[in-house]
Amino acid sequence: MSMMRIVNSQPEPSILITKEEIAVAVRRVAAEVKRDYQGELPLLLGILKGSFMFMADLIRQLDFPLEVDFVRLSSYGSEKESSGKIKIVQGLHSGVKGREVLVIEDIVDTGLTVSFFMNYLRKKKPASLKLCALTNKPSRRQAPVAIDYLGFTVPNRFLVGYGLDFNERFRNLPDICVLEGEG
Ligand code: PRP
Repeated sequence: MSMMRIVNSQPEPSILITKEEIAVAVRRVAAEVKRDYQGELPLLLGILKGSFMFMADLIRQLDFPLEVDFVRLSSYGSEKESSGKIKIVQGLHSGVKGREVLVIEDIVDTGLTVSFFMNYLRKKKPASLKLCALTNKPSRRQAPVAIDYLGFTVPNRFLVGYGLDFNERFRNLPDICVLEGEG
């Protein structure tokens, strides 16, 4: 029995995607982003909190001028289910009008969060608006979402690690893990 289980009586995360596999995917996605955005001074817009680690690794692979900003969105609902009612908790500091905007997400699950946010951004008239997601869980989709750059398609399991949480825990795990007994 692990210390984690003894101390917190929580299920044990088991690795689904290793940090090495994540690094390969981040390099591949970065190459695609670079091909499309080099010379454009894009605005990479991360949705907090989950995207912070992906953003940090992605931009270190992008050796050309770009800008970074974050918004914090939250959905009302239970701890594991989006309700579809999205609230902007911390808004944009950057102007979006006329910019090449690339939204960065850690996971597209029901799609409700990012679908809301893309519609919100579209009204601000960016020159272009695309979505880059590390993971996609298409089996759970409730709102249509076009993902332009994707790391992994993932199964319908409850995922934690590499920015993803369960009750704010496990974001610091370097691998993407399944939380056994959850989801
Ligand atoms: C997670 C994740 C996405 C969203 C995806 O965020 O980071 O933003 O859920 O779910 P959806 O496609 O079903 O809308 P969460 O609301 O858990 O906040 P967090 O990033 O701060 O953990």
